[in-house]
Amino acid sequence: MKKRNDDILPDHKAEAHRTKEMPAPEYGLFAMNDALASLGRGKKYYLRTYGCQANVRDGETIAGMMEIMGYANTEHPEEADVLIFNTCAIRKAAEEHVFGEIGMLKGLKETKPERIFCLCGCMAQEESVVSLIQQKYPQIDLVFGTHNLYRLPDLLQEVIQTKKRKIEVYSEEGRVIEDLPVHRSQSCKGFVDIMYGCNKFCTYCIVPYTRGKERSRRMEDILREVEKLKENGGREVILLGQNVNAYGKDLGMEDGFTDLLIAVAETGIDRIRFYSSSPRDYQESTIQAMQDHPNIMPALHLPVQSGSDSVLKRMARGYTAEEYKQLFDRLKKRIPSITFTTDLIVGFPGETEEEFLATLDLVDYCQFDMAYSFMYSPREGTPAARMDGQISTAEKKKRLAELNAHLTHWAKEKNQKYAGQTVKVLCEGRSKKNADVYSGYSEENKLVNFTSDKECEGEIVDVKITDVKSFSLDGHAL
Ligand code: SAH
Ligand code: SF4
Ligand code: F3S
Repeated sequence: MKKRNDDILPDHKAEAHRTKEMPAPEYGLFAMNDALASLGRGKKYYLRTYGCQANVRDGETIAGMMEIMGYANTEHPEEADVLIFNTCAIRKAAEEHVFGEIGMLKGLKETKPERIFCLCGCMAQEESVVSLIQQKYPQIDLVFGTHNLYRLPDLLQEVIQTKKRKIEVYSEEGRVIEDLPVHRSQSCKGFVDIMYGCNKFCTYCIVPYTRGKERSRRMEDILREVEKLKENGGREVILLGQNVNAYGKDLGMEDGFTDLLIAVAETGIDRIRFYSSSPRDYQESTIQAMQDHPNIMPALHLPVQSGSDSVLKRMARGYTAEEYKQLFDRLKKRIPSITFTTDLIVGFPGETEEEFLATLDLVDYCQFDMAYSFMYSPREGTPAARMDGQISTAEKKKRLAELNAHLTHWAKEKNQKYAGQTVKVLCEGRSKKNADVYSGYSEENKLVNFTSDKECEGEIVDVKITDVKSFSLDGHAL
């Protein structure tokens, strides 16, 4: 594709800018004219989404827009007229994965040059990624960022018409754009964004740069989406934000997240979960709301990152290991059936053996039900990437293996208590590996594979647990 000079490229410095001004939500911005509405007639799109739930939810918006344009979904890249890579920038490995897949599919462009490759999501917000695309990935025709998803139909039309590569990435604090279409990947449960962006600037993290500032959606818009989900058969809603406990602060609400949680619980939807919680903003009133409303599930993802106070300080997490443990204990005492999952990073710059051992101690104290553990990955433009004492990959690997041994031990141990118990499972459908087996999650967010004499997809069923594995439970529906 030819080059053009009206591209808009990402700019890290502008991405880190924060003002006090809050944008008013924009309604009705997404419009389809007749030309756009038939752009994809008889054509297919392939969408590959990487990264967190917020990105998955963006993928559902992309799918919604593509389908309004008449494109049909395909899971086979070779059948697609448009290939969309909705990417994640959280770690280098995630990025390499994306470039690997795009490289592998290069041949598809050679056999059919009018096929369009699009890259969007968090990687598009990175200066170095876009520059690499410009130099080495001629097969990518369209790059757009996290702030201008709604522009996809127009951008796609432009690329098709001009046959020129287009890069349009806004480096802004972000807006709140309502009324975008959505094609949900599951009907029994659905993600609902309650806020976008992040202001925490943990020193290792790229998200505040790629997603803009913390901005909350209005409560009435969130509730409207939850009601709609329910009308369409949704039994579970998962409220999303990088730090949900800060919900509503930007709207002047004092205890916004608790107010929202109660309002969502009062819609009567069967199950409510939320990701991610920040240990530093956790309110007593939120614990009370979880206790008072049985449809708020007793499972909490509470990322801790490290068990060492000095590392937590260098990460700018805003709490100590002791404060985390106190919150953990308080939640456990008040909600006895609660399960905990967390995120952990090993090999943060300067992490000593002693600091690493403090993480193992915290893991053994909390005995997490499950955890996502990562090797620290330097992200360009973040403070930690410039810190002294970067740890070697070999050492990070060694620490990760040691940490994972502790995590797997506790995961299995924690599952033992479910043997012979009956749990309530929201059945998501049949297992991909074995059509005789259904799968779903219990209230405590345990993955349960089970057999059933009746068709039960989309239903909440009682399942008696017959076998316990490290990361799942097996059983039979009663
Ligand atoms: N907003 C969420 C986290 C989103 S990113 C929160 O604060 O809880 C998901 C996880 O990726 C983080 O919790 C962290 O464990 C990990 N992560 C983020 N940046 C990373 C980096 N540079 N290297 C390794 N892991 C990282
Ligand atoms: Fe990243 Fe920290 Fe924000 Fe989570 S809270 S997205 S880890 S900066
Ligand atoms: Fe990845 Fe962006 Fe989510 S960096 S974790 S997709 S916010």
